[in-house]
Formats: sequence, structure tokens, C-alpha cells
Amino acid sequence: MVDRGLHVYVGAPGSGKTFLADIHGRTLAGARGVGGLCIDSTGSSGLEHWKRAESVSDAVDAVWDRNELVRYTPGDVDELQQLLGAARNPGRCVFLLDEVALWPARLKELDHLCRTWRHTDTDVLVTAQHLSGDIAQGLRACSPRLYAFRQAPSTTLDLLSKEWKLPEDQLQTLGQGDFLMAGPIDWHALKT
Ligand SMILES: Nc1ncnc2c1ncn2[C@@H]1O[C@H](COP(=O)(O)OP(=O)(O)O)[C@@H](O)[C@H]1O
Ligand SMILES: [Mg+2]
Repeated sequence: MVDRGLHVYVGAPGSGKTFLADIHGRTLAGARGVGGLCIDSTGSSGLEHWKRAESVSDAVDAVWDRNELVRYTPGDVDELQQLLGAARNPGRCVFLLDEVALWPARLKELDHLCRTWRHTDTDVLVTAQHLSGDIAQGLRACSPRLYAFRQAPSTTLDLLSKEWKLPEDQLQTLGQGDFLMAGPIDWHALKT
């Protein structure tokens, strides 16, 4: 079972971020009986359970009219902002954003969504190779549940060890699919 809320999956390419986020997203949507929208930033393999949408409106109809699991690769930031907006209003869905760092660092709609997930009833799952700069700032402010996969030496590794108190040496030697978890524990009360 996975808790409701804001989940961040961080690690090197191929470490297992999308694999786990996919399972969590599908589990949450199934348990809640709501639709799921996956922003497939890279056209990633491993998201085949989410039906590919051909347009923003196609995706919106599938998620909110038919409670389906849908993935879409936005053509530009404007399309992404529209979908982030829909995740807040009407909300009540699961929103999986794969590889957030491919988008501009300051996505105001993402900040809003992460801050208001309880209110909007949307679980937010974000994967990223690094937690650098603005993205880290925005996400950190919202106390996410963090899943730290294998990480090479980097500013992200420093951050994971300093801010989240995760052991640096262990982070560098995690196997594929292995992760360390950190973040708020009071969310157990919010289990689906
Ligand atoms: N826990 C796991 N069990 C089995 N296979 C896994 C696991 N985690 C990842 N994999 C496999 O490893 C590969 C890379 O995982 P992926 O999640 O796509 O990496 P990332 O998103 O971090 O780049 C995929 O083929 C995936 O199926
Ligand atoms: Mg991935």
C-alpha cells in the first residue's frame, strides 16, 4: 500500500524511479477509484499501463470523464500548465510527472499543485534525476515523501545527505530498484 500525498522519486538514470512511481500511481488510482494522468516527458518505456492520449483534451476527457489511466507528452510548457491546472481543478486524480527537470525550473502551477494536494484531492508523484535549484526548493517546501535511488556524487547527493540525513555512501551503491525512503511519517494517518 502507498500513502496518499506528494511523492518524489530521485536517482540516476536507470535506477528505478519510473518503475516505482508507475506502481504507486496505479495502486493509488485503483484504490481510490479515480483517474490517473501521467506526464510522460520523455516518452519513457515502462509506462505502458497508461494509455497514450493524443491531445490535452483527449487526456482530460479520459481522466475526468472515464477515470482512466492516461499518459501524454506535452508539446510545450503551455500544455503542461493546462494539465497541471486540471489536476487542481477539477482535481481528484493521481498525477504522475515523470522527469520534471525537462521542464522549466519554475512551474508555478506545479508549486500550487504540490502545496494544495490535500485540498484538491490529487496525489502528486514526481520523478527527477536531480533535486537541483528551484525544483528542490519548491518541492522541499511541501514536505514530500522522498524515495532516493542510486545517486552519483553531485549536489543532489550532498542535499540528500545534509537535508534528509540519508547516508551518502549507501546512496551511491544502491542496486537497481533499491531506494532509501525519507520524509514525513504522519501521513500514515492518511492511508487510503
Ligand atoms: N524494483 C524493480 N524490479 C524489477 N525491475 C526493475 C525495478 N526497478 C527498475 N527496474 C527495471 O529497471 C529498468 C530501469 O528502471 P526505470 O524505473 O525506468 O529507471 P529510471 O526511471 O530511474 O531511469 C527498467 O527496465 C525497469 O523495468
Ligand atoms: Mg524514468
